[in-house]
Amino acid sequence: EDPALLEAFEARVAADEFIEPKDWMPEAYRKTLVRQISQHAHSEIVGMLPEGNWITRAPSLRRKAVLLAKVQDEAGHGLYLYCAAETLGTSRDQMTEALLAGKAKYSTIFNYPTLTWADMGAIGWLVDGAAIMNQVPLQRTSYGPYARAMVKVCKEESFHQRQGYEIMTVLAGGTPEQKAMAQDALDRWWWPSLMMFGPPDDNSPNTAQSMRWRIKRDTNDALRQKFVDITVPQAEFLGLSVPDPDLAWNADKQGYDFGAIDWDEFYAVVRGEGPVAKERMAARRQAWQDGAWVREAADAHAAKRAARIAA
Ligand code: 3HC
Repeated sequence: EDPALLEAFEARVAADEFIEPKDWMPEAYRKTLVRQISQHAHSEIVGMLPEGNWITRAPSLRRKAVLLAKVQDEAGHGLYLYCAAETLGTSRDQMTEALLAGKAKYSTIFNYPTLTWADMGAIGWLVDGAAIMNQVPLQRTSYGPYARAMVKVCKEESFHQRQGYEIMTVLAGGTPEQKAMAQDALDRWWWPSLMMFGPPDDNSPNTAQSMRWRIKRDTNDALRQKFVDITVPQAEFLGLSVPDPDLAWNADKQGYDFGAIDWDEFYAVVRGEGPVAKERMAARRQAWQDGAWVREAADAHAAKRAARIAA
């Protein structure tokens, strides 16, 4: 690549300018953005499955309506992010085929089963809470379409987090069985939520380049720490205990020290060995097959319309 163009590009990024689709960019910048944005989009779409499992089982009409709205939002986030990725020259089909071929990932968090209604609370509170921690800085990511997509996504995420925390508040303040359900959900979702932030900084191959090109504004460990510091007091307010015996407030760093994450589990789930990974991929493959006729019909309609306009 032309060193002068690269220098000008890096000066623009360093000046916090947005890089737009038609601007010159290093191929490695384009490639890592397609990687990250498409995987972000896959995560939103696969993320609909764990919660979708509870829409017909919600304990009240209000809970059902709120959960339905949240799952629909996630679909919208996915479509928004696929559109942002398409501005880099990749197609929706290419991205979906990469997912279904196991070449592209989605967040490890969505490979865990949702066993009780309390999981809907823990997911909103912890998973969307972690997502907010990660997505707020992405509103300042250097690639314009991605940053702008994040502004809308973050507004909706705060509703997702709040409805989840409200479910946990009601359960934790309910009968002993309800409180036990809430504690069980916290026990199962706490560590996988910490893994959402990615591997430790000293083992994160993409971080250096992503920080230099301001795709990432904070490192994996920095965001993970912020998430723990904000979330532990929320668990205490619920009267629930975080399943980490090493968790302790460190006055020197004004933050919590916490126990070691099981990175063997993390990499196994990244490799596709998560508890319900096979079910998630089977559901996505089925949806892609079931939707083929809709895509073909839309293409045929578009071709006829183009022919009419051209005639
Ligand atoms: N699950 C699956 N793969 C993960 C992962 C996770 N939790 N964390 C890291 N990885 C993968 C990375 O994709 C990378 O693999 P790749 O090079 O093949 O893509 C590898 O592990 C090494 O990780 P790095 O730290 O080097 O990768 P990144 O610099 O890309 O950092 C990230 C990982 C922090 C997840 C970053 O990609 C990111 O911020 N992505 C955007 C946010 C996102 O995708 N969130 C996922 C959840 S979306 C969600 O929660 C929706 C909400 O509505 C519920």
